[in-house]
Parts: sequence; structure tokens; C-alpha cells
Amino acid sequence: MKKLFAVSLMILLVAGMLFAGGNRASGTTAVIGIAMPETHVERWVKDGNQLKSEAEKRGYTGLVQWANADQPTQNQQIEGFLTQGARALIIGSVNDGVGAAVASAKRENAIVIAYDRIIQGTHEYGYYITFNNYKVGTLQGQSIVEGLNLNTATAAAPKYITLFAGSPTDANANFFFQGAMDVLLPYIDRGVLNVVGPFPRHYTEAAFQQIATENWQAPIAKARMEGLLIGAAANVTLDAILAPNDTLAIATLEACKADAKYAGRLPITSGQDAQFSSMMSIKNGEQYSTVFKDTAKLAEAAMLLADQLLKGQPVNIPGAVLAAGDLTQIAYTGTGYVTTYLLDPVLVTRNSNFLAPVNAGFYPANEANQLR
Ligand code: BGC
Repeated sequence: MKKLFAVSLMILLVAGMLFAGGNRASGTTAVIGIAMPETHVERWVKDGNQLKSEAEKRGYTGLVQWANADQPTQNQQIEGFLTQGARALIIGSVNDGVGAAVASAKRENAIVIAYDRIIQGTHEYGYYITFNNYKVGTLQGQSIVEGLNLNTATAAAPKYITLFAGSPTDANANFFFQGAMDVLLPYIDRGVLNVVGPFPRHYTEAAFQQIATENWQAPIAKARMEGLLIGAAANVTLDAILAPNDTLAIATLEACKADAKYAGRLPITSGQDAQFSSMMSIKNGEQYSTVFKDTAKLAEAAMLLADQLLKGQPVNIPGAVLAAGDLTQIAYTGTGYVTTYLLDPVLVTRNSNFLAPVNAGFYPANEANQLR
């Protein structure tokens, strides 16, 4: 009898531990800290809110904070989550300075999931979940090939492009750039596409710093575009702009719109994030393309991952693939590899997949109605 009692007690204790994650059962809810980098790029507002609601859906308390692209602020926010007893952290990092907060989390045995942006300089965290960022770049490159009809262009009448990249502190920026360049370089080498302004062939070159945009700040990109228009691009008409995301696409287009030369013929401009303002711009025939990354799906997948880890269950993330083969590079932190799950991005132009993000429920009704 005593033995039976001891065994039952043990079962109860183990069940209690297993539920320490989710925990409607015990009446207390485990805390998950959600650290988002910034709000000046619209997507992160959605990501944070979505992650919080996904946490709550699974019975956790989701605490969310945005760091205003300021690294020390982000680390303070993460330390705050740990003080409030967070058992897991989902981090969209400002930059790799977050490593110190990751080390604190490790000391507290909290699970760390890098969200969308890899955390480099350490691999002392378990998981990274993101989109296939290299593919995002190839889609941007392909949209420029399509928009400029580069397959029928000739070296006698070449097209002119200028290059913009994202933050040099964000590893994603180099995957976006490299993916795009792998598509564009053959046309550049054939002489049918000419680069105006700084021209790095690879992100490792010094010229990459000249096209990079610190912290993805729109005013920086706009000012650089204005400089190009009266500088390197003064004597040509640009046919295209490689812009790494929607915020920077809109910024470069604003600069072009202020230049009479571009009235009615804005450059074919890429983007990313399917942000509402860019979708309206695409609808109106201004920005040419964006890349839709269904961040609601990313948030759902990240929270499922956290839930499975907290409950000690085997990890199984439907709709995501493990970064393997050619894609292992996406999982490299500089010190080692983290287990990385990738979701698939989708190219959107006015003529293809335009309603994909609308139909996925990506916008509130008032915005969706304007896009339909
Ligand atoms: C994200 C993009 C975003 C950019 C700026 C990148 O890490 O993957 O979706 O546009 O940061 O916030």
C-alpha cells in the first residue's frame, strides 16, 4: 500500500513537472518572455502581439517588449523577463550584444529561441526559427529580372540598378543580399545590367558597408538615395533599386519621387515583409515587389517549439524544414550551429500572388478591404 502511495505520488510529481510549462492544470502559468527588436519596421509590432497571443492560447503568460533598436534596452528587457521568472525567451535580437542576456538565461535554465534573426557569437542556446532568408534574396533578385525583362535586355541598351542592403549588424541582411546577387550577377557579368554606386559582389567586401543601412533606418536609406541621385546616378536614369525590405523600399522611392526625372517612371524596386504601405504602393504601380513572410505562422511555430521544449516533448514543427544541406549556413553562429527551422517566403507583385497575404489573414479587415 505504502509502495502504491509512493508510486502515485511520484506520478503526480512527474506530471506536475511536465506541466510546468503549459499549466492550466496547476493554476499557475509559466512565463514566456518575448523580446522584439524595434517598432520602426511595422512587422515587429505584429510579431510581438502575435507571439503574445500564441503564448496565451497555450496557457502561458506572454510578456512582450520592443527595444527601439537599442541593444542595452533589449538586454535590460530580457533580464527583466528572467527576474519575472521566464522559463523561455523568444528573442528577435537587435544585434549580437544580446549574447550577455543569453548567458544569463542559460544560468537560469531558461530556454532561448532565436526568432527570425540568428544570435551570433554564441551557440549556447538551442534553437533558431526563421524563414529561408537566402530564398528571400533570390526572390528579390528574380523580381528585378522579371520587372526589367532582363532576359531580353542587351548590352547595347543596358539597364541601370543601384544596390541597398539591410543592417550590417543583422546576419539576415547578408543572406538577403547574397541571394539577390546570385540571381543578378550573371546579368551584370553579361553587361545587360549595370550597377550605379557602390558594387560589392559579396557581402564580405568593404563596399557592402557602403550599401548597408544601420539598424534598417529609413532616413539613412533615403539620405543615401538622395545623394546617389545627385551623385553617381546624376547622369543616368535608374531602372531598378535592390531594396532589402519594404521600409527601405518606400524610403528610396520617396527620394526618387522628389526628382522630376522619375515622374511616372519609378525604378523597379524590390522589398520584403508585405507591409501594408508597400502593398498599397504595389497596387498603385509604384513599388514593384515584396516578399511575403507569414509572420503569424512564424509566431505560431515559435510558440509551438517553446511549448514542446518546456514540456520535454519531441520537437515537431509542421510546415517548417530543418536547415540542412546548402542551408546549414543559415544555422551557423560563428561559433557553432544551432538547430534551425525554416519557413517558406513567397514573392508578391501586382500580377502574381498579390492577394496571398490578404487571403492568409495578414491584415486587419479595413486594410484587407483596401487591398482587394
Ligand atoms: C527581418 C526583416 C525586416 C528587417 C528589419 C530582418 O531581420 O527578417 O523582415 O524587414 O529585419 O526589421
